[in-house]
Amino acid sequence: MSREKRKIDHIRHALSHSREQINHFDDIEIVHQSIPSLDWNELELNTEAGELLLSSPLFVNAMTGGGGEKTEEINRGLAEAAAETGIAMAVGSQMSALKNPEEKKSYQVVRKANPEGVVFANLGSEATLEHAQRAVEMLEADAMQIHLNTLQELIMPEGDRDFRSRLHNIEQIVSGLPVPVIVKEVGYGISMETASELKNIGVRYIDVAGRGGTNFSKVENKRREDPLVVFEDWGIPTPISIMEVRNRYPESHTFASGGVRNGIDGAKALILGAHMFGMAGGLLQVMVQRGKEAVVERINAIHHELKVAMMMLNARSPKELEGKAYVLTGKTKEWIEQRI
Ligand code: FNR
Repeated sequence: MSREKRKIDHIRHALSHSREQINHFDDIEIVHQSIPSLDWNELELNTEAGELLLSSPLFVNAMTGGGGEKTEEINRGLAEAAAETGIAMAVGSQMSALKNPEEKKSYQVVRKANPEGVVFANLGSEATLEHAQRAVEMLEADAMQIHLNTLQELIMPEGDRDFRSRLHNIEQIVSGLPVPVIVKEVGYGISMETASELKNIGVRYIDVAGRGGTNFSKVENKRREDPLVVFEDWGIPTPISIMEVRNRYPESHTFASGGVRNGIDGAKALILGAHMFGMAGGLLQVMVQRGKEAVVERINAIHHELKVAMMMLNARSPKELEGKAYVLTGKTKEWIEQRI
């Protein structure tokens, strides 16, 4: 199967698998407070995550590029929406463009549409430092995402099978790149044990990209004749993963993604200690079905929802949401009682 077809298949299957309407963010109940003390005009969304200064904690997470005109059009629309709303955006894995320079254009459109914005480059952990340097250069990227996607590879018939050099590769990239390196999952979450391993090699930025939204086991199973259905519930739900990472590695800059549906899920992620929250499949769906203007509207709506939650909880900035009162219920409570 051609790479181009695979990218388009990913988009098609990611959009067609039933996105979970209910996820573990529903196990977190924010405790309502009745006496506000702020003026709406004082509220600000500016966010700091390590060396990254952003005008919002929301970002468009890594999705696509390299699949011809279709992915270029999607990237352009998402990047224009990110530019208009002032949010950061990651591109999909650039490995195919490093191997096939004619594919670069479908990634570079993201920088072109958003010359002043914050853009994240993206590669898998099979990448070397040299790959990472070229990926950052390609986009004049402000940060580099390195994704861990072992289970996706194992479900992909043509996926990688030798993972011996992964940790070493990441260590080389972290020590050699001049920009922040964000290590992320692709929808299976980061455990506290993985967080420790990443800490030991100097990783300071982690995007948990947990279970609850786009499900790559389902996406890849659609492309298999003998689906590995038993792995469709594998992975650490996003809110749990945030708590695992924050607990084990409190100095890390933690990004939350995987199943974030709205501004309240974003607020919950920030209450649990994340510094930023990302959305991929949900924004892709809006882009593909309703176009760029609808993505701008969706992002504005999420910002508004977040600000209402901030006002309700007396948080002047996203950062001030951390530690606000919440109650854990259901499986999330059971998990946290056993692990943290
Ligand atoms: C992704 N994701 C992804 N991640 C990554 O690091 N590199 C990549 O190339 C891709 N490709 C990709 C394609 C498509 C079509 C989707 C929907 C997603 C994963 C993405 O960045 C994110 O971690 C997960 O999708 C979880 O977030 P959502 O979709 O639940 O908001």
